[in-house]
Amino acid sequence: MNAPAPRTVPLHPLFGVEVQDVELATVDDTGHARIRALFETHSVLLFRGQDLTDDDHMRLAERFGPIEDRNADERPKGEKMSVPSVSNIREDGSLTGEMDLHTLHLKANMLWHCDSTFMPQPALCNILIGRIVTRTGGETQLASTRAAWAQMPETLKARLRHVRLRHHYSHSRARISPELAALPMFHKWPAQSWPAVWRNPVNGAEALYVASHAYEVEGMDPKAGAGLIDEALEWATQSRFVFSHRWNVGDVLVWDQRAVLHRATPWNSSEPRKLTSLCVSATDEDGLAAMTMR
Ligand code: OGA
Ligand code: MN
Repeated sequence: MNAPAPRTVPLHPLFGVEVQDVELATVDDTGHARIRALFETHSVLLFRGQDLTDDDHMRLAERFGPIEDRNADERPKGEKMSVPSVSNIREDGSLTGEMDLHTLHLKANMLWHCDSTFMPQPALCNILIGRIVTRTGGETQLASTRAAWAQMPETLKARLRHVRLRHHYSHSRARISPELAALPMFHKWPAQSWPAVWRNPVNGAEALYVASHAYEVEGMDPKAGAGLIDEALEWATQSRFVFSHRWNVGDVLVWDQRAVLHRATPWNSSEPRKLTSLCVSATDEDGLAAMTMR
């Protein structure tokens, strides 16, 4: 007999659920189908107290789709990718300094964004696991761009409904530091252009699709376009659309990049923090085909 459907507890009145009674290391196909259905509906899933190895993390991500591998070009052929981490801990165990380029890169994560909108195949989801967590600060915030779009005034909606935004990785980094933005890792991909609305093909729900990486609106004066992007971001990230997650070790947080913006929040830089992160790339079945054609 199949395991009973997991219990869910809302994280926020508009989106997100904590999923209980699931051991992610051992989910089977039926179990994953249930998780996937919850993902499509609620946009954010939280699983607590999970004991996942990096290999388990990879297996979980693979169930959602192709694992994103941003550094494939930098590794010797045949070498397996390792699970990336978002962390202020250096390899020797020391913590990165306030003005290190790496710290500045982490600061850029504090701008509202969706992952990988600057890549030809943007992300469907990110699966973050709490490994070393801070005592204070360091929450990850998530904003529902689905709820924000549904409640957006028609006048602003009309200005966004048929436009395409250009995204470039270096743009979000330039907001923090020109030196950071100049690094080759932020120039691997040419600018990508995406409609400002992503429609979920499973349930038809539309969501605003914008990020800190977006810098102009196609066919619009650059300054006016940047202004419209700012307006859209400002609307979508009002506190009523935001859920703040305080990390515990063993938390697994999965969010739908097509329906959620996210950002890290500051913490005391003398505290270590490490999350492991796997992004899964969006495929045509996730609505990417429609995003490319429109
Ligand atoms: C990410 C990210 C936020 C955080 O992993 O893509 O933005 O809280 N992380 O570290
Ligand atoms: Mn991110």
